[in-house]
Amino acid sequence: MKKIVSLFLVLGLAGSMAFASGSQQQVAGGGKAPLIGLAMPETHVERWQKDGAALKADAEAKGYRAEVTYADADQSKQNQQIQDMLTKGAKLLVIGSVNEGVVSAVSDAAKEKVIVIAYDRLITGTADYDYYITFDNFKVGQFQGKALETALNLPAATKDKPKFITLFAGSPTDNNAKVFFDGAMDILKKYVDSGVLKIVGPAPLSSSDTANFTRITTENWRADVAKARMENLLNNDAKNVVLDGILAPNDTLARAIIEACSADAKYAGGKLPVVTGQDGEVASIKAIKDGKQYMTVFKDTRNLAKAAIELADALLKGQTPNIPGARLDTTSYNTGKKVVKSYLLEPVVVTKDNYKQIMIDSGYYKASDIE
Ligand code: BGC
Repeated sequence: MKKIVSLFLVLGLAGSMAFASGSQQQVAGGGKAPLIGLAMPETHVERWQKDGAALKADAEAKGYRAEVTYADADQSKQNQQIQDMLTKGAKLLVIGSVNEGVVSAVSDAAKEKVIVIAYDRLITGTADYDYYITFDNFKVGQFQGKALETALNLPAATKDKPKFITLFAGSPTDNNAKVFFDGAMDILKKYVDSGVLKIVGPAPLSSSDTANFTRITTENWRADVAKARMENLLNNDAKNVVLDGILAPNDTLARAIIEACSADAKYAGGKLPVVTGQDGEVASIKAIKDGKQYMTVFKDTRNLAKAAIELADALLKGQTPNIPGARLDTTSYNTGKKVVKSYLLEPVVVTKDNYKQIMIDSGYYKASDIE
């Protein structure tokens, strides 16, 4: 009997130790720590796995329990994942949504008084949440536009010898895709208007030109969709012209576009167009180092995750958020139902000249990752 009792004691002790040190964190004074649900949209774009991992680590470091899910760019899957988090009693959700279909899940959260933070992507079509945290998306686009302006030396271009570019945008259901594009056009439009920059293929000058904008978008940010569209352009509108540049909205699509161009005789032997990007994906940093991709816009996911968890912590404690390194914007981001309070972090331009400093010295990648 004694033996059995001590066995129970040992098992009980081991069990509670595992409980305290594992993911099931407890708050001082007993009871489970509040659960934060982290709903990420996809993994086919590299950054989201880093976002998910950093968010989870930061939430746990602050004493919360945290669960991260990835939705494979499928909104109904994400809604199910969010429902599961609500069933488990999540007190706050950080959502990087797939598309506007997320509003039903956001409304369920609001009914249960669960706080929602839109993460990186604005959730449109609802008034059921108050906070959005992201990078300055318009500036991301401006950086892409400025890169083309500089690399193509647009201020010196003339109507007799214009420069030629073609345009790509991100997913039509991601609000960011519009903002990136409008940021780029904020820089490029004047050159198109004066006739020194020619757009090959569909030529929206603003995302509000819905018909033309839709034609340059890339469903769910899929590389195969962008590659097929680039191949199509090379066989049609861009058949008899040498492109000087391509506005590519992120690295995943940039590399797909570069792959399509590389198979075209006009661009063989290192004469690729200037291609923009975004995210600082490892394969694109290599491509930048090798002179295939011109630039990327780095949005340090470690900083965004940290800031999001600071915001979450303040909201859960009923405190006024103070997010170091973020600019509060209370006017720009309208869901269509209300303007949400937005915290914007600063993106950084990365080219051949500074990739070592920005991507390696900062510890985001190891030097051996880029070799
Ligand atoms: C993000 C980008 C990302 C893209 C595709 C956008 O909403 O801001 O960083 O490349 O989605 O996942």
